[in-house]
Amino acid sequence: MRVVILISGRGSNMQALLEAQLPVEFAAVISNRPEAQGLAIAAGHGVPTAVVDHRRFPDRAAFDAALAGEIDRHRPDLVVLAGFMRLLTDGFVRHYEGRLINIHPALLPAFPGLDTHARALAAGVKLHGCTVHYVTPEVDAGPIIAQAAVPVLDDDTPERLAARVLRQEHRLFPRAVAWLAAGRVNLREDGTVAVAGTAALDGEALLAPGD
Ligand code: GAR
Repeated sequence: MRVVILISGRGSNMQALLEAQLPVEFAAVISNRPEAQGLAIAAGHGVPTAVVDHRRFPDRAAFDAALAGEIDRHRPDLVVLAGFMRLLTDGFVRHYEGRLINIHPALLPAFPGLDTHARALAAGVKLHGCTVHYVTPEVDAGPIIAQAAVPVLDDDTPERLAARVLRQEHRLFPRAVAWLAAGRVNLREDGTVAVAGTAALDGEALLAPGD
């Protein structure tokens, strides 16, 4: 499976994917920002990098067309958004239908969009987490492949909560890509996803607060 990863900044999720020894070929890492720290990390792993700077295009459609051109040079089976912080046009999303996934720092459908950790604290939820999902035209609303939950603690700040979630992002994302590579992910007609061969951890629910 040929995988192209899109990033915008730090690239820690990308790094987790590159270091997970997945049975895939990372064909390229592409950033919309030339200053993204993740580009150097990708190059250090021997993965080809490219920049398609959104600031050089007059509108979203022109940027997305250039981005798709760069992606498609690498003939990907899967395109992975790993901290890619641009809204994508419907045309772009449709072009990659069924082979475009994203990681979002919340338990969707709660807290789509930005500032998820501060919003989770403000809402008083006791469980928060992250979601790997297929990308569809509606932002952060596509079929959910996998989720990881963490407790929210009384004295959390957005930064502490973000760090707790990020550790789980780094576990969850490689697992989801491994399932996709193994052909175990079944996107059903009703818009839900079944992953073949996974076990339900009955009795191992995360309760928060704990005793
Ligand atoms: C991650 O927490 C990711 O879930 C989030 O940005 C961060 C990127 O960190 N993505 C979004 O908010 C997408 N809307 P990273 O560059 O270190 O992977």
